[in-house]
Formats: sequence, structure tokens, C-alpha cells
Amino acid sequence: MTEFTRPLPAEADTLALGCALAGCIAPGMVIYLIGELGAGKTTLARGLLRGMGYEGKVKSPTFTLVEVYEVSRLYLYHFDFYRFSDPQELGEAGFREHFNPQSVCLVEWPEKSNKAAGLPAADLRVVLHVAGSGRNVTIFADSEVGHSCLKRLQTL
Ligand SMILES: Nc1ncnc2c1ncn2[C@@H]1O[C@H](COP(=O)(O)OP(=O)(O)OP(=O)(O)O)[C@@H](O)[C@H]1O
Ligand SMILES: [Mg+2]
Repeated sequence: MTEFTRPLPAEADTLALGCALAGCIAPGMVIYLIGELGAGKTTLARGLLRGMGYEGKVKSPTFTLVEVYEVSRLYLYHFDFYRFSDPQELGEAGFREHFNPQSVCLVEWPEKSNKAAGLPAADLRVVLHVAGSGRNVTIFADSEVGHSCLKRLQTL
């Protein structure tokens, strides 16, 4: 299994990692962002969007459930399922069609939904942990596309 672990002592490091990830992703990818409240999931998404050239505001989708960005000729959907009380809400909210070969999907709190509800498996799982005043990150590749992405990331 391809795996990538790194300490992220400050917010700038989380942003920089997101930015680096932007150079490795491909349309159709699904990236789970996993970690406790305040672990840095939205910060990483912000860095990734910046790395893709998006200059506008990147808000947390906690209340809207999804924020949509059109950037680099693709759609990026940034989901936050924290407020899901039922795993089936993914389908009820009409989110399934956002997972398609032309889009990149970032999913905070994927554990609040499940496969039965139509949540696709991840290509990458980014796992963040609070460590003192900073964070640690481990990224797992769960598909071929994810593996190529991580291999690239390791060379950056
Ligand atoms: N590497 C880091 N070191 C220290 N602070 C960080 C780091 N990365 C992010 N932060 C800070 O952690 C706080 C929470 O970040 P963020 O909103 O991204 O978390 P989250 O995982 O999305 O939380 P939630 O589950 O509530 O959506 C922010 O103030 C951010 O600046
Ligand atoms: Mg968040």
C-alpha cells in the first residue's frame, strides 16, 4: 500500500500540502478528508483549491453540505457530511451525480454516509490528527489512480 506521512507543524503546512496535492489529482478522483473536529480538513481543501488556481474564498461547507467550484476546466465539489443524521441523506440531497468522471470530490466526514447510500470509495484518504499545536497527516491510496497520485506527491 502506498502511504505518505508527514508532520504539519502549522496551518501553512496544511495549506502547502493541499497545494502540492493539486499537482497530482485527476478528474474523477474522490478524496476523503478524515479527522476530528478542527483537524484541518477544510484548511487542506483550501490549499488544494489555491493550488488549482482558485483565488476566491473557500468556505467550510458545514451548513451548506456542499460548495461547488469551477476551476481548471473541472468541477470540484467540497462536501461536509458532518450534519447528516442518516447515511441515506447523500441520495436524498441529490449528491450522487456529483461523483462523476469530470469532477473532483472532496468529502469531509465521509463516515456519516456509506456505500449503500451511494458514496463511492475513495481514491485517496487523507487522515489528519491533532499533534500538540500542529497536526500530523497520513494519506492512503485506495486505487490505481490514488497510487499514481501519491507516487507523484512523494517526489515533490
Ligand atoms: N497544521 C496545522 N497546525 C496548526 N493549526 C492548524 C493546522 N492546520 C489547520 N490548522 C487550524 O485548525 C483550525 C481548524 O481547521 P479546519 O477548519 O480546517 O478543520 P476541520 O477539520 O475542517 O474541522 P471541522 O470538522 O469542524 O470541519 C483552523 O483554525 C486552522 O487554521
Ligand atoms: Mg471542515
